[in-house]
Amino acid sequence: MNWKEIYKSKLVSAEEAVSKIKSNDRVVLSHAVGEPSVLIDAMVKNKDNYENVEIVHMVAMGKGEYTNEGMEKHFIHNSLFVGASTRKAVNSARADYTPCFFYEVPRLFKEGYMPVDVALVQLSRPDAHGFCSFGVSNDYSKPAADCAKLIIAEVNENMPRTMGDSFIHVSDIDYIVETSHPIIELKPPKIGDVEKSIGRYCASLIEDGSTLQLGIGAIPDAVLLFLKDKKDLGIHSEMISDGVVDLVDAGVITNKKKTLHPGKIVVTFLMGTKKLYDFVNDNPMVEAYPVSYVNDPTVIMKNYKMVSINSCVQVDLMGQICSESIGLKQISGVGGQIDFIRGASMAKDGKSIIAIPSTAAKGKVSRIVPLLDEGAAVTTSRNDVDYVITEYGIARLKGKTLKQRACELINIAHPDFREELIKEYEIRFNCKFL
Ligand code: COA
Repeated sequence: MNWKEIYKSKLVSAEEAVSKIKSNDRVVLSHAVGEPSVLIDAMVKNKDNYENVEIVHMVAMGKGEYTNEGMEKHFIHNSLFVGASTRKAVNSARADYTPCFFYEVPRLFKEGYMPVDVALVQLSRPDAHGFCSFGVSNDYSKPAADCAKLIIAEVNENMPRTMGDSFIHVSDIDYIVETSHPIIELKPPKIGDVEKSIGRYCASLIEDGSTLQLGIGAIPDAVLLFLKDKKDLGIHSEMISDGVVDLVDAGVITNKKKTLHPGKIVVTFLMGTKKLYDFVNDNPMVEAYPVSYVNDPTVIMKNYKMVSINSCVQVDLMGQICSESIGLKQISGVGGQIDFIRGASMAKDGKSIIAIPSTAAKGKVSRIVPLLDEGAAVTTSRNDVDYVITEYGIARLKGKTLKQRACELINIAHPDFREELIKEYEIRFNCKFL
């Protein structure tokens, strides 16, 4: 059979496809905006035929109905990164969270920690040779498919084709469901004065020819606003969003000075609007690889002048960073934060930055605190941290003593909280704050 006949022989309805999932299976769903929503809806509808199906997922951008009250008999959600739609469930009996570095997720699947029974993925239409692309979600989706006992794919005509190591041949898929819904879009966030000030400070540390990792949200987008005068920037990032497209169009991101994959934007997933998805489609400038490669610190470090920019919930006066919980309450995950902080700090002339507004909860609490909240996870240790930036300036912690770190951090805290922090400093260190 040629690939077109093979493809046709695997076409089924979503209802039939999800009927192949069995009770007690572990089912891995494609990540973030790549989640296969037609298959997920059909699986939730078919719930009465399942007991104890484990749903492994990272950022859930859809409805997350498998975590709703009443679903616990049918589904247990194992979250690798807690998002808005799964937060409530993870902090109840209906779901749980597995702490892990993002770059190690494929190992969990492949090396027996979490064997994959079924991979539910979303792919592009096949090319002339019968290869479908993982499009916006390569990350752990391709590695999960590589080792799953059963692969069920939504082949969506709107899924962009990303290049790199991003393909699966139709002959390797078990069941195919054709879909045509738009890929989930993440609208650009509002950028206020605080974010602009943080963006300006971050940009001041970025030299021409640097390679960047940027997370998601208002701060990374604000950083991009202040890079318009830079030259020959490159991207090696877990993800990119729309802001990167503007800087490519402006000739700022050229990737020419990259020491690994020169000329290429390297990513593992994408999250933005149709503008981004159109930009990456069939674009040889953008290469997507599994997260085990993109986020491996020993790969990241091969980029000279690597700059990582991430955010957090709290930082204590020693420089311990909590990025994923409020006290004991898990609100997100470690994601690729440590992968990139370690990779950037090992890179020649690399810099790792934690960029945060000085306060949270509408100014009611300081993010710079004497001690992390009781039960808070230490996401980035005090040994790993380097630059911390707020709208009040830049603190450099690497190579600094405990007292020096505390002073640097107090100087960039919100003025409303500095007095309290100084009092803590003077009690803790038994000396005057200068
Ligand atoms: N005390 C109390 N509440 C706090 C808080 C604090 N110190 N810090 C944050 N919050 C609250 C906020 O007020 C907000 O509440 P709301 O939703 O009711 O408004 C909520 O927690 C989310 O915080 P916010 O800072 O607005 O979230 P964000 O979207 O900017 O994301 C992180 C910040 C830290 C959660 C996010 O960057 C993250 O998950 N990082 C870890 C993963 C990572 O770095 N990955 C690599 C790059 S993709």
